[in-house]
Amino acid sequence: MRRYNVTTFGCQMNVHDSERMKGLLESLGLGEATSPEEADVLVFNTCTIREKADERFHSRLMDARAAKLRDPSKVIVVGGCWSESVKDELFELYPFVDLAYGPGNISRLGEFIQAGGEVPRGHFSTFDEFSGDLPMRRERPFQAWLQISQGCNSTCSYCIVPSVRGREQSRPAAQLVAEAERFASEGVRELTLLGQNVNSWGRDLPVAERSGFGDLLRALDAVPGIERIRYTSPHPKDMRDDVIAAHRECASVCEHVHLPLQSGSTRILRAMRRTYTRDRFVTLAHKLRDAVPGLALTTDVIVGFPGETEEEFAETLAVCEEVSFDHAFTFIYSPRRGTDAARMEEQIAEDVKRERLERLVEVIQRHAHARNQQLLGSVQEVLVEGPSRTDPDVMRGRTRTNKTVLLTHAEPGEIVSVRIEAATSQTLRGVRERIAATV
Ligand code: 5AD
Ligand code: SF4
Repeated sequence: MRRYNVTTFGCQMNVHDSERMKGLLESLGLGEATSPEEADVLVFNTCTIREKADERFHSRLMDARAAKLRDPSKVIVVGGCWSESVKDELFELYPFVDLAYGPGNISRLGEFIQAGGEVPRGHFSTFDEFSGDLPMRRERPFQAWLQISQGCNSTCSYCIVPSVRGREQSRPAAQLVAEAERFASEGVRELTLLGQNVNSWGRDLPVAERSGFGDLLRALDAVPGIERIRYTSPHPKDMRDDVIAAHRECASVCEHVHLPLQSGSTRILRAMRRTYTRDRFVTLAHKLRDAVPGLALTTDVIVGFPGETEEEFAETLAVCEEVSFDHAFTFIYSPRRGTDAARMEEQIAEDVKRERLERLVEVIQRHAHARNQQLLGSVQEVLVEGPSRTDPDVMRGRTRTNKTVLLTHAEPGEIVSVRIEAATSQTLRGVRERIAATV
């Protein structure tokens, strides 16, 4: 049997796209190899959001080239966002790549493997297929991704995603509900809705099917068996009252919102073309926390956007102090080819960016720690995911607020009540409550 290995870089959308690639390969009779070294077909699902992502992938690609020099029968496949972003020169720079395709062209992997031999090697920039229609191999029986849309219509000046993932296209609600029902019948308890901008979902659908994200949440909440619904990522500009109301109304919609801030300076937000102000973001954050008891708010922040002054960076720190996020992904601005921000003058020096990042991380960690400490003694509902990374006897799960909890005496897929006994900025630790205590 021929064996494949898929190495995934980047975001959850890519993790899900990789499930499609694995599903495709398995539907064609290939089996999974645990490492690229052992595989006959080496697939890389790439990311290009920041330069670091490119670098990380590049060294793996060079390992693959070395493997192919030793054994020319190996097939090297490069899919994903980086692939799309270098489509014009990919085969010139990396002639040893057998097949390359962009995020809109995943099905080409199946065609290539089936055809063998002389078929076109590059497939990019058409976004007329939904990976949602391809086979899928899920990692865990009790969790599933549900891709509700693809592409992005925003024009954030730093971001390469719209140019590699195309215009926004939503999948109709009926299709999504049917898929959720199928998942539920297969034992899925937690659903994560995926899209580049989930809460603008539905606006591009034909009139008869047009709908909004709040209504989609309600429709999916009504699917029996789905106990938890998460979504990522929403855009603050599209976070309407209706969505906040759905959080309150729908028992399965989790008390967690990942709301990317990017900057706390209104001037920088305008230069980023985020279309909201500092004040609108802060008001929205308070509104969400007031509306949804126990809500965890997490965010993404970029430091060192072109022209960002010390005062403007201090405004970002001030917003993070005020909103007190439960967790944040913090990034150094990285110029991306073809984006408007990359062409701006006043690029910030690396050492300044790094120093700002350190100061930001201090604020973020302090708040994450304090918010987790507030959970000491509380009882949290935890979905057990599997063994912890360091100790196979300790299990790892997630609260509804998406916090990682370490516990013992639990099985993957169980939803259990856990009393929190210890907390760091990153993880909680707890013990199972007796069942009787929860009823
Ligand atoms: N530089 C740094 N961070 C970026 N992000 C997107 N583009 C860039 C860039 N050019 C961050 C944003 C986004 C997250 C997924 O990555 O914070 O929300
Ligand atoms: Fe995901 Fe963006 Fe990376 Fe593509 S470039 S994998 S959309 S993070």
